[in-house]
Amino acid sequence: MKILLINGPNLNMLGIREKNIYGNMTYDEMCSYLNKKADKLEIDLDIVQSNVEGEIVTYIQSAYKKYDGIIINPAAYTHYSIAIYDALKAVNMKAIEVHISNIHKREEYRKKSVTAGACIGQICGFGIFSYVMAMEAMKEQEGR
Ligand code: DQA
Repeated sequence: MKILLINGPNLNMLGIREKNIYGNMTYDEMCSYLNKKADKLEIDLDIVQSNVEGEIVTYIQSAYKKYDGIIINPAAYTHYSIAIYDALKAVNMKAIEVHISNIHKREEYRKKSVTAGACIGQICGFGIFSYVMAMEAMKEQEGR
């Protein structure tokens, strides 16, 4: 099973930004951790990150017919990007939205996700492990 994991803006700053919310693990450390977890789950995982909305749209489009699913943490774009929502709808692929933090426990403006409506579901609040849960959920969805 081939999965594209797309990370949005500022996630490259993990390990530096707001460690009390996002933890100590750096972005590179997270990627190698997730790659190891993917191997165990027999997932062929590609990970990309962009701080630019249009690039994320292009990543989603490029996944069409090349991947079996998309795991996406749109970061701040979650809360207002209709372009990312539309891209996910356009490719009509299995997608799971992930957040490191529990967005429902934070500021009011983070409680709303524009993009989750284009996904099978949303996993949030479990730190980096949220991504592992999303990979497991993708495996469970295989063949459905
Ligand atoms: C985030 C939550 C978003 O509200 C925030 O803008 C992020 C990270 C998370 O993973 O918890 O950048 O998506």
